[in-house]
Formats: sequence, C-alpha cells, structure tokens
Amino acid sequence: MTAANFAASKPDRTRSRVRLRPTMSSDLEYVVSLERDPDNLAFITPWERTQHDAAIRFPDFRHFIVEGGEGLDAVGFLILIGCRSHDQSLELERMVIQTKGSGFGRAALRVAKKVAFDDLGAHRLWLDLKTRNTRAKALYDSEGFVVEGQLRDAVKVAGGFESLIVMSMLRPEFTGRRSLGLELPE
Ligand SMILES: CC(C)(COP(=O)(O)OP(=O)(O)OC[C@H]1O[C@@H](n2cnc3c(N)ncnc32)[C@H](O)[C@@H]1OP(=O)(O)O)[C@@H](O)C(=O)NCCC(=O)NCCS
Repeated sequence: MTAANFAASKPDRTRSRVRLRPTMSSDLEYVVSLERDPDNLAFITPWERTQHDAAIRFPDFRHFIVEGGEGLDAVGFLILIGCRSHDQSLELERMVIQTKGSGFGRAALRVAKKVAFDDLGAHRLWLDLKTRNTRAKALYDSEGFVVEGQLRDAVKVAGGFESLIVMSMLRPEFTGRRSLGLELPE
C-alpha cells in the first residue's frame, strides 16, 4: 500500500480504493459542479471558482481530487487548510464525494488524516459540520474525531440559521488509533 492509497477493508467495499492527487485548474469545473449539486449544497458553503483557483496555488492550502474505483476516476475532492500553521492545527475545510455510501468518503478521510499527521506535521486536525449532516457526523464519529462543541446559529440559511459542530483529532489520538490498526500505516 502506498502513502496515498487506501482500500477500505470491508468485503463489500473492495471497489472503494482511493488516492489523492493535487487539484489542477482543469479540475475546477468538476469541483464547482459537485459543490453546486443539490445533494451537497445543503451541507457546504460553496466557493466561487476563483476561490478554488486561489486555493490550489496558496501554499497554506492543499486541494486534492479524490480518485477512486477500478479506473481511479475522480470521485470527489477535499481541501486541507492551515498546512503551514505555526500551531500545527490543520482544518479539513471540506470533503465532497460524488457517489455517496460507496466507502469513498471513509477511504479518502483515512488518506487525508495520514497526509495531515504524517506529511504535514499536524498536531490537531479539525473540521466543522452542520448539525443536520448526520451522514458526515456518523463518518467522523466512527473515524475517531471528538466533538469539541457547537457554534450556535453560525451559518445563515434560507429561513433561518444553522449551528455547526466542531470536531477534532489530536496526534496522540491518531497514533493510538494507528497502534490499533485503525489508521493507515506509516
Ligand atoms: C459526507 C461524505 C463526504 C461521506 O462520504 P461517503 O462516501 O458518502 O461515505 P462512506 O460511503 O465512506 O460512508 C461512511 C459512513 O458514513 C455514514 N453514512 C453513509 N451513508 C449514510 C446515510 N445515508 N445516513 C447516515 N449515515 C451514513 C456511515 O457511518 C458510513 O459508514 P459505514 O457504511 O461503514 O457504516 C459524502 O456523503 C458527501 O460528500 N456528502 C455531502 C457533502 C458533505 O456533507 N461533506 C462533509 C461536510 S463536513
């Protein structure tokens, strides 16, 4: 297994092998269209194409296309920010997977954790998600992220406001999970 590859171990998830590669300008149409898909729009705050374009160039950001399946086609994207953080506190800014429920999200998250802790020297990896995003919450819970608290009514949406749950994983928690075989090996 290489550093940026992961195949989920469940027997029915043998097709959920993923790898991350840096996003290129030519990928941005795909990225923006995924963000604007109504299946995703409810759970994220979409960026303009220019913001993604800046993000693929900005050294503090890592913008990745998630490739997966038999042909290693694009199946989604994810963004890490704070990669040069003095505090070694990185944020999984967003992750969007096109075909839900196929195991690509879990596989991509495992690779993202490995990149954050092994390659980018993170001490803390954090994220936030909308309180009604039960699918993402189940994924992050089961991948060892700890709830830090809520940002109440932090996001304005049609008809009102939504709260955000903040979750994180610290390096000792990551290494503890790795020693149990729950994370990708070094
Ligand atoms: C959240 C997201 C990235 C997860 O990726 P995915 O490929 O769909 O997730 P997986 O197939 O790897 O499933 C991971 C876990 O999510 C949970 N899950 C999946 N589908 C679910 C559903 N319909 N309802 C509740 N939980 C669900 C399960 O715990 C699942 O693990 P298990 O099947 O092994 O028990 C993806 O669904 C997505 O892009 N959603 C829209 C954008 C978004 O919410 N991004 C995250 C913002 S913080």
